Amino acid sequence: LFGQVEAFAGDPILSLNDAFKADPRTEKVNLSIGVYTDEKGRIPVLRAVKTAYERTGFAERPYLPMEGHAGYREGVQKLVFGDGHPARAEKRIATIQTLGGTGAVGIAADFLAKHAPGRTVLVSDPTWENHHGLFQRAGFTTTTYPYWDRANRSVDFDGMVKAFEAAENGSIVVLQPVCHNPTGVDLDERQQEAVTDVLIAKRHIVVFDMAYQGFGTSLDEDAAFVRRYARRASCLVANSFSKNFSLYGERCGGLSVVCRDADEAERVLGQLKLAVRRSYSSPPMTGGLLVATVLGSDELRAQWAGEVETMRTRMDSMRKLLAEHIRALSNEIDVSFLLNQRGMFSYTGLSAQQVDTMRERDGVYLVGSGRMCVAGLNEANVPKVAKSFVEAQAR
Ligand code: LMR
Repeated sequence: LFGQVEAFAGDPILSLNDAFKADPRTEKVNLSIGVYTDEKGRIPVLRAVKTAYERTGFAERPYLPMEGHAGYREGVQKLVFGDGHPARAEKRIATIQTLGGTGAVGIAADFLAKHAPGRTVLVSDPTWENHHGLFQRAGFTTTTYPYWDRANRSVDFDGMVKAFEAAENGSIVVLQPVCHNPTGVDLDERQQEAVTDVLIAKRHIVVFDMAYQGFGTSLDEDAAFVRRYARRASCLVANSFSKNFSLYGERCGGLSVVCRDADEAERVLGQLKLAVRRSYSSPPMTGGLLVATVLGSDELRAQWAGEVETMRTRMDSMRKLLAEHIRALSNEIDVSFLLNQRGMFSYTGLSAQQVDTMRERDGVYLVGSGRMCVAGLNEANVPKVAKSFVEAQAR
């Protein structure tokens, strides 16, 4: 019956993570998947989340509504847009609880396929591979806009703006507002404003994918681009709690659609609910309750914000430490990219072949594009990673 089914080529990130787990070497280092591990190499259980778990316990588990837990959705809006945002006050944001950030982008794609069909979808070059896949699955053709300026290891701002200007009016544009995956380079505030002007003038539909809020500068500053944009125009915002709540396996995210007025938001919410019903009916409860409890308590929210800050500063210090170790081994390698890029990822400039060498010879796993997850670094593994990195460049 299924004799013609093709083999799955594997996912460039998840399959690599599986290969890492299967690697028998004890000194292996996982810098592939975007998962934060602490100084001891463990995925942390945040204290605020643990307290929320103790407070909520395990009681009956009725279905959540299609749109998710009310407190959770409120928490998403406050965190993403800020409490005093005019769009919130005017009740023109439709928010649903989603299955992680991937689920949020997936429902956004399904929603747009129905209500804005036939448009071209532009994603950054490079981007998180699944952006292409999720929009293609929904029936769209995807194309790219320039983002990475290889020579300067920065954003190709002019190329990006030109592509937005050249795209057909009303195209769908996927933007990562902070901690760009995979490059680690973001637009500065002036560039964000200039891009906003073009996107609005071209009436493009913007889908923000914000998976790393709090890992750039701070929870509020990382959301500033989205907040400013949403003051000026409608947009969709996917957010994830996988990383900043360290709740990877609970699949907690959100999708918010900023609308023109409350009536439109009500109708959009209805259509999002329908998209959920047709896909998985309603989101799961346990992770949702944890997030809702933390975001709904001033005390736990403050504790959580402190824990996000701890993760962020540890990643920054690992960037510095790796740069120092590389410099100590070679003064021919420019390590400034490690310090200039931010968030979980650094685009190293290593070729796929060099990445293969590091993995095969040293058990140091990076994604084939040369993306390194700096959140997997710790004091114990940095010397090994630095040595492997320098030796790979020498080849
Ligand atoms: C990543 O880019 O490594 C993460 O976002 C995990 C994933 O789902 O790919």
